[in-house]
Amino acid sequence: KMKLAVLTSGGDSAGMNAVVRAVVKAGILRGCETWIVREGYEGLVRGNTDTPTSSTLDDPIADPSARQRVRGGKATNLIENLRFGDGDLLRDGTGDHQSGRTLKGRYIVRAGWDDVRGWFAEGGTLIGTARSKIFRTPEGRLAAAYNLIKEGIDAIVICGGDGSLTGADIFRSEWPTLINTLHADGKITDEQVKKHGHLRIVGLVGSIDNDMSMTDLTIGAPTALHRICEAIDSINSTAASHSRAFVLEVMGRHCGWLALLAGVSAGADFIFIPERPPQTDPWEDEMCEAIYRHREVGKRKTLVIVAEGAHDCNLKPIRAEYVKEVLTDRLGLDTRVTTLGHIQRGGRPCAFDRILPTLQGIEAVKALLEATPDTPSYMIGVRENKITRVPLVEAVAMTRAVADAIAAKDFTKAMSLRDPEFQQ
Ligand code: F6P
Repeated sequence: KMKLAVLTSGGDSAGMNAVVRAVVKAGILRGCETWIVREGYEGLVRGNTDTPTSSTLDDPIADPSARQRVRGGKATNLIENLRFGDGDLLRDGTGDHQSGRTLKGRYIVRAGWDDVRGWFAEGGTLIGTARSKIFRTPEGRLAAAYNLIKEGIDAIVICGGDGSLTGADIFRSEWPTLINTLHADGKITDEQVKKHGHLRIVGLVGSIDNDMSMTDLTIGAPTALHRICEAIDSINSTAASHSRAFVLEVMGRHCGWLALLAGVSAGADFIFIPERPPQTDPWEDEMCEAIYRHREVGKRKTLVIVAEGAHDCNLKPIRAEYVKEVLTDRLGLDTRVTTLGHIQRGGRPCAFDRILPTLQGIEAVKALLEATPDTPSYMIGVRENKITRVPLVEAVAMTRAVADAIAAKDFTKAMSLRDPEFQQ
């Protein structure tokens, strides 16, 4: 019986809960034992302490010095005190109800059918996520391997962005070495070495940025785009009322997808994206001319969208506040800046961010069941509306190639890597 765990990692995105739900349910239906790892790779490294309540470090409220830190200074380890959602059922998969049970000190827990009931409609990730620093160290990954083996888990689904999937790729490639080290240190038995010689890993891309190569869409990107469109609708009405200009900064890290698609779907006058900076240097005239033309044909409002990773063709960052200054000084427009921030990341998933993770979660379980030591770790993607499997290493390498092309100022290459049909 395959013991299968699922974790979410990196920045949260709408649809991650639907991934967990789909993996748990598909896993159970296919005869697997299903587990959840809380707090991303951080939980994998921390594992389960055998005596969870004995450590005061686990509970900053019970620890007087921690309480002082909460009041006067820097509180640490608050994460340890989290619950799985107060009062939630946590079934251990055998129907044993553990209502409201604290999960203090337990990061790798069994999950049953009911634990994930209705999760497709919830925003963020209910099992927690983290950008784990410790998992980036060899010691962290050794602890993670030990914790998985200790719980008998032999397959894992990781849902996260490119950083998280890069971590997954490293973990899988190091697995034989990690096993040997644990065995040499006497931490695992001969039998465990035999049983866990091969770690099955599958990646699902959860990120609002839609910045992963070899897939058309990442989980959470459609919802974030939808939030941005709604925000622009609101901005448009006030902008038109006052005949103002707005500069809107949207997320996306090094990827311009959110900015570009929001501009197309809600009507922008000028868009700055990292992959294709303005063609001219300096770019101010180019932008002002375009906006002037739009005003001349009768537009009452102006919208400029700046992706957070935008820069000019010399890689100098383009900031929303500076764009505002240019619009005010050169065109005399009454201009405001809006930075959307985490509003674009949170909240209920749209329908497509329930459908995609459900289909991909089911495919992930299938891929794990079919995995052999010779098959690559797959990333589950979507291409032209079909759920796909691509080798994780290749997708990660190609994603890195886009960043490299941008850093080398080869913007045509960056665009062609994002979109093979791109033409200058
Ligand atoms: O990767 C998702 C993302 O929301 C990016 O768009 C943004 O740059 C970043 O995460 C913000 O991260 P944080 O969680 O640190 O605010």
